Amino acid sequence: MRTRQLARLQATVAQAYEKVPHYRSTLDAAGVHPDDIRDLDDLARVPLTSKEDLRQNYPFGMFAVPRTQVVRIHASSGTTGRPTVVGYTSDDIRMWADVMARSIHVAGGRPGDIVHVAYGYGLFTGGLGAHYGAERLGCTVVPVSGGMTERQVQLILDFEPRVIMVTPSYFLSVLDEMERQGVDTAATSLRVGIFGAEPWTESMRREVEDRTTMDAVDIYGLSEVIGPGVAQEAAATKDGLHVWEDHFYPEIVDPLTGEVLPEGERGELVFTSLTKQAMPVLRYRTRDLTRLLPGTAYPGFRRIEKITGRSDDLMIIRGVNVFPTQIEELVLAEPGLAPYFQCVLTQPGRMVELTVLVETHETWGEVDRQVVSERLTARIKERAGTSCRVEVRDPGGIERSVGKARRVVDQRRRDL
Ligand code: DLL
Repeated sequence: MRTRQLARLQATVAQAYEKVPHYRSTLDAAGVHPDDIRDLDDLARVPLTSKEDLRQNYPFGMFAVPRTQVVRIHASSGTTGRPTVVGYTSDDIRMWADVMARSIHVAGGRPGDIVHVAYGYGLFTGGLGAHYGAERLGCTVVPVSGGMTERQVQLILDFEPRVIMVTPSYFLSVLDEMERQGVDTAATSLRVGIFGAEPWTESMRREVEDRTTMDAVDIYGLSEVIGPGVAQEAAATKDGLHVWEDHFYPEIVDPLTGEVLPEGERGELVFTSLTKQAMPVLRYRTRDLTRLLPGTAYPGFRRIEKITGRSDDLMIIRGVNVFPTQIEELVLAEPGLAPYFQCVLTQPGRMVELTVLVETHETWGEVDRQVVSERLTARIKERAGTSCRVEVRDPGGIERSVGKARRVVDQRRRDL
């Protein structure tokens, strides 16, 4: 693997240097020439690339091929400002379909399966990425996209897919809708759920697997690197995600200093594409926090641990660092609460305050709500180390999303 990776890495750095002015200037400024990359470890000399670099070259400035060879554009919206634009040649689309087909297979999908795709189609890479991969594997694809939850249920019942690809939070809404319609969620045709595009926890896996007869597995990716299909969890082991290292070279760096961390340490995941043509990326900072581990089900590929959060999702409440996934674990452990929650940050005075909105499965009286609110507040204090207020709402009281869930609502600016 290492020899092949090195040859591909050298070709990628050379191509980026020759064809993309941004990379030429950052490499020149760092005093690094593509010929200096003689070993995989030499990659550490190449400067990191950030989302901001992509924004500054909006829309097509990071392309390494003439625009006429770009057969597809996607974009990720981000929360502020211009979107980041990514482009693909027809070879890139083929490679993406290959890694997605591999991912679906590792997740338990097989040729001949019906695959229900409820990731959004459009500029988001989820829908089309899943679509091309499932076709490549030889499946029958149902391109539903997100939304219209009643119809999602109808199509699952009528077409009997074995595989569903969807964000975990939206899948919960689909399960709720089934229950509302009186459908037995454990008796559907679904056996494999390929869930990603947002962080989700082991508790969420248990919740989904308890309510269904499915294996719930994790898929990871990001538009800047290709889309979904950068790393995939195996149904056989469910122990983190194998990174498809023949196409995407991972490193873990210290999020503050940018230094490469020793294998096994937790930090920010960084990727260099090894085979992408239209938009090669050199050491792209994902902002996702995890660590690299040896391969298990597929020993030739290293794994990343399930992603616990993004550095920009981190809530710092009076000096205590808290990720929404920590709150998710505690909400799901509370009987009677639905698996939906939202963290709202406000700053009424000088201090930041956290309110955790949760929702009950059934309508409760004031006393029961009070009991749960107090218990959860105490657990969050004890396990996550932060004080907060827990607001218990009636069923349906928390905003649903058909794609990525919005776990943190930051209202601080409005309050200032
Ligand atoms: O979310 C690609 C994707 C689509 C992955 C469908 C999986 C399934 P972006 O919109 O560019 O691309 O967002 C990328 O989403 O940096 C992570 O922060 C987050 N993310 C994606 N997958 C996971 C996951 C797609 N399995 C950003 N666990 C990434 C945690 C994830 N976070």
